Amino acid sequence: MTAAPSCVIACEALTRVYGEGQRDYQALKGVTFAIERGEFVAIMGPSGCGKSTLLNMLGLLDRPTSGRYVLDGVDTSEMADAERTALRRRSIGFVFQAFNLLPRLSALENVCLPMAYAGVGAAERSERAEELLAQVGLGGKGGHTPLELSGGERQRVGIARALSNRPTILLADEPTGNLDSSSSREILALFSALHAKGMTLILVTHDPAIGGAAQRMLRLKDGQLVAEDA
Ligand SMILES: Nc1ncnc2c1ncn2[C@@H]1O[C@H](COP(=O)(O)OP(=O)(O)OP(=O)(O)O)[C@@H](O)[C@H]1O
Ligand SMILES: [Mg+2]
Repeated sequence: MTAAPSCVIACEALTRVYGEGQRDYQALKGVTFAIERGEFVAIMGPSGCGKSTLLNMLGLLDRPTSGRYVLDGVDTSEMADAERTALRRRSIGFVFQAFNLLPRLSALENVCLPMAYAGVGAAERSERAEELLAQVGLGGKGGHTPLELSGGERQRVGIARALSNRPTILLADEPTGNLDSSSSREILALFSALHAKGMTLILVTHDPAIGGAAQRMLRLKDGQLVAEDA
């Protein structure tokens, strides 16, 4: 495939079949697109159309059944699991709809955790986590556990955690799906600020405000890309 060097993501004819035999289900039916460094892309489409399936693939949380996925210039198709994990840690930050914070850890400790897995030393972990929490507007709240934070604040911790290993790409699956409209606006402002600083953002969303803020929309229907609005 001849993807431009500025492409951070290039997908070619990606498919994903769940299950086997007569009960199999083709969730992605051959999806091809490329994303340039620094783009802000929204993936939209009806429930069950394959958005999370695609995002999990982009985040190296899942493998395609067939097709090619080139991330940061590296063809991931034939990679062993350990290599994929290393590439994921280096390149990808993932934000979840349900936040997925560890409830017994403080906000600061939650942000530190992926850095610990990546082998960052303890002093640098705390320093970076403090900076990131300040960046997402949670300066004095690093000691709070998730239960002591609002939904919007929890998602800010989720974003700080996703940024902790300085990824090139931030992926988010319905990041405002569990939030009220005012918290959603704050989270969107945070994403927009990250985009302005050059981050590549790919967000799955049902939220028209996020869709409107994105530069580009990938619209999925029944496992296929239907249209691209610039
Ligand atoms: N592990 C699985 N095993 C079998 N089928 C699955 C699995 N995960 C997803 N599917 C099916 O694949 C299709 C796409 O699912 P996916 O989660 O990607 O949809 P989605 O677009 O994210 O939907 P939503 O907007 O509701 O989150 C659905 O029909 C779903 O039932
Ligand atoms: Mg989904």
